[in-house]
Amino acid sequence: MNLKDLYIDFFVSKGHKQIPSAPVVPENDPSVLFNTAGMQPLIPYLMGQPHPYGTRLVDYQKCIRTNDLESIGDKTHHTFFEMLGNWSLGDYFKKESINYSFEFLTKVLNIPINKLAVTVFNGEDGIPKDTESAEIWKNLGINKIAYLGKEDNFWIAGEAGPCGPDTEIFYFRSDDEVPDNFDPNDDRWVEIWNNVFMQYYKDNNGITELPKKNVDTGMGYERVTAILEGVNDNYLSSVWIDIIKKIESLSKFSYEENPESIRIIADHIRTSVFILGDEAGIKPSNTDQGYILRRLIRRAIRHAKKLEIESSDWENIIANMIIDKYKKYYSELNKNKDIILDELTKEKNKFNKTLEKGLREFEKIITNVDKVLNKDLAFKLYDTYGFPIELTVELAKEKNIEVDVNGFKEKFKAHQELSRTASSGKFKGGLAGDSDKEIKYHTATHLLNAALKQVVDKNVHQKGSNITAERMRFDFSCDHKLSDEEKQKVEELVNNWINQKIDVTVKEMSKEDAIKSGAECMFIEKYPDIVTVYSIGDISKELCGGPHVKNTSELGKFKIIKEEASSAGVRRIKAILE
Ligand code: ALA
Repeated sequence: MNLKDLYIDFFVSKGHKQIPSAPVVPENDPSVLFNTAGMQPLIPYLMGQPHPYGTRLVDYQKCIRTNDLESIGDKTHHTFFEMLGNWSLGDYFKKESINYSFEFLTKVLNIPINKLAVTVFNGEDGIPKDTESAEIWKNLGINKIAYLGKEDNFWIAGEAGPCGPDTEIFYFRSDDEVPDNFDPNDDRWVEIWNNVFMQYYKDNNGITELPKKNVDTGMGYERVTAILEGVNDNYLSSVWIDIIKKIESLSKFSYEENPESIRIIADHIRTSVFILGDEAGIKPSNTDQGYILRRLIRRAIRHAKKLEIESSDWENIIANMIIDKYKKYYSELNKNKDIILDELTKEKNKFNKTLEKGLREFEKIITNVDKVLNKDLAFKLYDTYGFPIELTVELAKEKNIEVDVNGFKEKFKAHQELSRTASSGKFKGGLAGDSDKEIKYHTATHLLNAALKQVVDKNVHQKGSNITAERMRFDFSCDHKLSDEEKQKVEELVNNWINQKIDVTVKEMSKEDAIKSGAECMFIEKYPDIVTVYSIGDISKELCGGPHVKNTSELGKFKIIKEEASSAGVRRIKAILE
């Protein structure tokens, strides 16, 4: 039986309800590009809101981490991965959580006790040492315990949010004899499960107690599968092996000869399949998730070239395999199969047009470069040949050359200003084309938000949004289906504001001042100390990273295409700008 099924069955047998994996692109949280942990979609519930499924939850969650993309190519890193998690929302706490983990590992997965060790929180910054967890472990017969500080044993997603001390479970991944003493720095010990005791909330003002004590756990599916199958290269486990073999068969090189390129293709195409297959409708572009997707596909294409893969539809052969492999767990992949295959091919064709020339240009440039490739050349590769800066860095690194990335970013930003887009803290592309359209839609969401407040109810709040070059989607709190009259009024109001040619202005201010000024915001705790506030005349004021158009007159005509239910108490509007 698959580890996912074993995990879900076990926790269901302990009174947990299985919840579906949330989309990998967060629906209601503009502060992160992708879900990076199972708990992310659950933040409101960890903060105290009741969850419709109750207080004991279990799932497998699609996650994407893009912070060390450069590490992809080694034996253990993946951009997309699945996280198995179970939660107690103010229900059980340390004792049950540790007992469940212990029982699952030793009774269901049959891992011998002497191959397990744990770390617990040693206490720091006024938060006490977690002797309770250590005692529970000892009572279960686990004596390999290391006490570590908040760097290692205090978990939080990012800078602010629910958090707490954790206990991490390690497995001895080696044929060597298990040492008597547990040294967490000995890399034969690998972390397999993290149990976080979320009883605190942290933000810029410090740490406070949450209304309830929660448990949040996370286990990396790929890593634990590899361990259970006794392979020390994750890509040789049953999660990957057929995909690796397929790429090998398409390539002129074997896995032994070029494992890095084969792993990069496998990993990047899998992640791209999951981004494209997600309901959010992300397409390759120069901004946000679309930019990550573009980078992944283009990097995979470059490595396919290195492997001398010649098949004309290699990307779809691999993508098809991935869809087949995962559709049982993620039906959206099958549903969106045509989009996935089509977009991969489109992006490949687009990049292939300039890749050859770009690589030749790169080779020419690089022969005259001594140590550092300058910003102008890096920008030329981006602008003319579609090389994401990260790709240029990777190519240069292979020749022991550095790239003036900061200079590139400055130049890029200047170019961006020219094309009227503002920076948002996130690294955004702003070249002509689809991104301009997306910026217009972005401004239109602010107008729509304001119009709904005036027409429907002043307590309407944004619950999420999603923008592509083709349309915008906007989720908002509302307890009824909008009448035709309401929809018409909203449309008219937005179009009036567009016709009034109102300036869009941006101001930086402290988060506190922003709130005081009445600026609208979805997840206040997720914003940094200094925020940007966008105003559209006196019609709208929102905390937002931007970018936006300079004047509403740029938007064109606003039209509502559809109004439907999204979830309980949340309605969804799809609209276009003509
Ligand atoms: N949220 C915890 C983690 O991602 C379980 O490690």
